Amino acid sequence: MKTKSTGAKYSAIVGIGEQLKQLEQETGQKYLRLNRGIPTVTQIDLSEVIPLIDFNSAELQVYPPNSGLMRLKKAINHYYFNDTSSEENIMITAGGMNGLDLIFKTLDTSLVLLPEFYWGAYANILKINQIPFETYYSFENLLAKKEQYKDASVIICDPNNPMGNKYDDKMLLEMVRKLNVNDTNIIWDSPYRKLFIEGKDDFYSQLICYDKVIVCDSFSKSIGLSGQRLGFVHSNNKQFLEVFNINLLYATNGINAFAQILVEKILSTPQGQRAAFEFREATRIAMKQNIDYLREKGFLAEEFYQDSDPVGIFTVVKFSEKELLQHHIGSVGLYYFTIKKDGPAQDYSRLCISVPHEELKAYFDNI
Ligand SMILES: Cc1ncc(COP(=O)(O)O)c(C=O)c1O
Repeated sequence: MKTKSTGAKYSAIVGIGEQLKQLEQETGQKYLRLNRGIPTVTQIDLSEVIPLIDFNSAELQVYPPNSGLMRLKKAINHYYFNDTSSEENIMITAGGMNGLDLIFKTLDTSLVLLPEFYWGAYANILKINQIPFETYYSFENLLAKKEQYKDASVIICDPNNPMGNKYDDKMLLEMVRKLNVNDTNIIWDSPYRKLFIEGKDDFYSQLICYDKVIVCDSFSKSIGLSGQRLGFVHSNNKQFLEVFNINLLYATNGINAFAQILVEKILSTPQGQRAAFEFREATRIAMKQNIDYLREKGFLAEEFYQDSDPVGIFTVVKFSEKELLQHHIGSVGLYYFTIKKDGPAQDYSRLCISVPHEELKAYFDNI
């Protein structure tokens, strides 16, 4: 049988998880899994949300509308955009990964620019879609070269995976404005942001004032529902939405109706909002404790947090993944997240610090 080779590789991070499982079996000792990419301080408690769902409804049992349930889109417009957008501009996807793949199937772009340290899936999705990519060293650097990037697309991830750093919102919006004027597409892929924000936030409504901005978001991190495979894409561009909708149809035939109803209930009912808040609050408290602790111990790679703040859910420490493994801590070497694999990134690792504080402390106290 002949197959098509795109150069995309299966996730190396999944391989690390398998290696840890094997080590546990061989040694009989437990390993702290900070190599993962999901908040695991606590789970969202859905016990008050589930009774609100009518499992015997046609809405849940038959094909949903191709671009998503209207009431979920309404809830997204309210929660993310303060009702300043329109449901027509929102396309429901099977999570952020699916959203990104469909964006690159839809956009005609000559080049994609990724942050210097980037989530590996970006590169693999781009390879599958045969779109060339480069990385940008800093936002200043990106703007300095903007003439070369007309018709290119820039991915912005803030807070970033793998660095776990957050830049100032005003600065980010100003940069988006400059890129937009330059005719550069901006793909705003920041699924960790909403984990840190409560109450009124007009960042997204400001972001979508720019016509070259495509927002890709997901409910995997901000409400801990990666198992539901749900996200959305937002754009103001009619032509983009039309083609995206066709690509969405033939890729998915509609997105799981149960997941859509569940998330709509979480976003728009008091029971759901309370459950989501409690999940986020517990996650934030533990992440802050973990960052403060790693900082105090001198383990945090401060050099990466000079003009931004380390917030989570990831953070970078001054240990290689091999060093951490000797202390029974699973991590992902920073070199996984950059094109320059043999450079200084070899001496650092990415940790998922979204774990209970006592658990993390117990392992790092031994170093
Ligand atoms: C930066 C970034 N974007 C998007 C995603 C997509 O997540 P999902 O497909 O679960 O929505 C992830 C997941 O790890 C991510 O780290």
